[in-house]
Amino acid sequence: MNKIPIILDGDPGHDDAIAWVFAKADPALDIRAVVAVSGNQTLDKTTLNARRVCALLGIDAPIASGAHKPMNGDPVTAGNWHGESGLDGPALPEPDQPLSPLPGVDLMAKVLAESSQPVTIVATGPLTDVAELLLAHPEVKEKIGQISIMGGGLTHGNWCPGAEFNILVDPEAAYLVFHSGIPLLMSGLDVTEKALIKPSDFPRILAVGNQTARIVVGWLEFFYRFPMELGYSGAPVHDPCAVLALTHPEIFQSRELYVDIELQGEYTRGATVADFRGRLGKAPNAACMMEIDRERYIDLLVEALQFYHGREVAI
Ligand code: BDR
Ligand code: CA
Repeated sequence: MNKIPIILDGDPGHDDAIAWVFAKADPALDIRAVVAVSGNQTLDKTTLNARRVCALLGIDAPIASGAHKPMNGDPVTAGNWHGESGLDGPALPEPDQPLSPLPGVDLMAKVLAESSQPVTIVATGPLTDVAELLLAHPEVKEKIGQISIMGGGLTHGNWCPGAEFNILVDPEAAYLVFHSGIPLLMSGLDVTEKALIKPSDFPRILAVGNQTARIVVGWLEFFYRFPMELGYSGAPVHDPCAVLALTHPEIFQSRELYVDIELQGEYTRGATVADFRGRLGKAPNAACMMEIDRERYIDLLVEALQFYHGREVAI
């Protein structure tokens, strides 16, 4: 089987970690590199979390540290959702491989240059690394097959009324990516807030009966606390949508749209503005996921977790 080579770039983060659970388990994907970016927590924390999650899941691709701050401005973190460590909850194994000596963008460029096939980037944090890759290594742009993003929201935000966290943290980076001409899959809040995992799903996930399933439920129990206070009926587990949009497009309904990024705006900086009615006369630049079959989402999580049977790491 011809696997899709992918680079995982994210800011783990509970939902990033669960996205990587899906990615490692999927026989259609070949993880070539993992890069941590500043986002849910500071870069030192997201890097350590990335290394621990890779040790848990058996991801043996090189891991590098990416951008420590957005292209323009200071880091914004999300400790209210992800805790002090950025991945609070169950204990995790210590890293089992050294950090790559390469900066994240250089590791990505190396993987792209060495690949004989186009590589997909799965970006589940602020888009700083991806934009800096395009700026620093334009020679490898043609090797990027597509970029599957968790970010934005076509009708509303979450960090402020108009903007979603990943895009709000680094709108300039998002602007470069959305204007890159590279095919984009966008899983924004429109779909990811429907990718709810509810407490009533936890027993079924736990019943998979392995260490990874127990840790995923531990992550969900932590991650659910804050949205519960906000009145959600489950945890909006955003980031796996960026993996599943690639591997299981049949569980989504999507629309091809022209999407631009608001860089100004007192209330709307970081907003993803979709031209639903074609008023701008511009060709679509993103396949935007709009609906998800939530029951299938849970089924696929349970299936993915079965991949980890027999894998038990010391913690
Ligand atoms: C996004 O922000 C982060 O907190 C999550 O990991 C997700 O990528 C949702 O807005
Ligand atoms: Ca994330």
